[in-house]
Amino acid sequence: MNIPILRIPFTDSDIQFITDGIQDVLKSGQLAIGKNVAEFEQKFADFVGTEYAVGVNSGTSSLEIFLRSIDVKVSSVVVPTNTFMATATAVVHAGGKVIFTDVMRENLCMSPDDLQDKIQNDTKAVILVHIGGIITPHLKAIQDICEDKDLYLLEDAAHAHGSSIEGKMAGSLGDAGSFSFYPTKVMTCGEGGMLTTNDESVYKKALMLRDHGKPDHRYNQHTEFGYNWRLSEIHAVVGIQQMDSADWILGERRRVAKAYDEKLKGLSGLSPVEIPSNIKSSYYKYIAYLDDEMNRDEIKTRLQDEYGITLTGEVYSDPCHTQSVFTKYPDTMVNKPDDKFPEADYVCEKHICLPLYPGLTDDEIDYVVESLGEVL
Ligand SMILES: Cc1ncc(COP(=O)(O)O)c(C=O)c1O
Repeated sequence: MNIPILRIPFTDSDIQFITDGIQDVLKSGQLAIGKNVAEFEQKFADFVGTEYAVGVNSGTSSLEIFLRSIDVKVSSVVVPTNTFMATATAVVHAGGKVIFTDVMRENLCMSPDDLQDKIQNDTKAVILVHIGGIITPHLKAIQDICEDKDLYLLEDAAHAHGSSIEGKMAGSLGDAGSFSFYPTKVMTCGEGGMLTTNDESVYKKALMLRDHGKPDHRYNQHTEFGYNWRLSEIHAVVGIQQMDSADWILGERRRVAKAYDEKLKGLSGLSPVEIPSNIKSSYYKYIAYLDDEMNRDEIKTRLQDEYGITLTGEVYSDPCHTQSVFTKYPDTMVNKPDDKFPEADYVCEKHICLPLYPGLTDDEIDYVVESLGEVL
């Protein structure tokens, strides 16, 4: 059997829908920021439960747009060290400095205790990343800290389309949410991003910033230094199809995760991360910790070479604060060289992510579990 790292299941009717939509776009003469982007935005805002959603060309753009809209220049922004570098890069590009916090191994997300310790006088915002689709059960503590210290809370929900906590959706839990539609993500439109918010001033600034800092698309007047962060109509057509399939996509991911939960019981050598019952994960990743004596690289190589199973990338294998770019540009990071991140070190070294995508069959799931058992 061959279990690839990723399958993106577009059915024949999905492909027909997308092809028809693209034909309409081509005939319309409006290839960017038209009616399809507006429809995608409306569907996404309804899905997340926010007043506004702004479609952009990547998840990195939507992070940076929010940070620019609240102006983090000469400020610091707190980011968990266990995230994709784009979370931190967006802060630097928006003119801010990054403060990294440690995470918690139980949920891989930001530690509220370390957040409390790391806040500085110039700190303006916190970015909470829902790693692998898991919303931290300590959300309330983080929200309280932000309220108490008057900090903006941005959710990096690049992994968390459809994740929820006590029925509230990722992207609606702070001042804004940022989503990515890169092909590996829970929903994709090839390339794309979405900023969700209930704040009208953030919404208006985001519209302006994505379009070269122009308050009105029709006129050549620029009141901010914006950028071309626009989303094309063609990408939006794919996004609409994904929104229409959201229930099915999430249902499939949860079906596969539930099957792993059952079938991995009793398997020695690894322990799946347990998702608390008040949290629904998007299952961007199915995450399990390896026992201490296990070697991740060896396990991945053997699964690939001997069983044809490609495990997906970790979330993450290298904490951001160790990235060499911060040595090159030391002024971009506030942390001291002797700051320690023991939980992130554990997370980054010890977990694996099992293959998980819509359409993975019961036979394939059995094969992954049996092969993993043999290798372990
Ligand atoms: C946690 C996180 N934040 C931000 C991004 C950036 O998204 P994009 O690749 O769409 O710019 C990613 C994408 O990989 C991500 O995983």
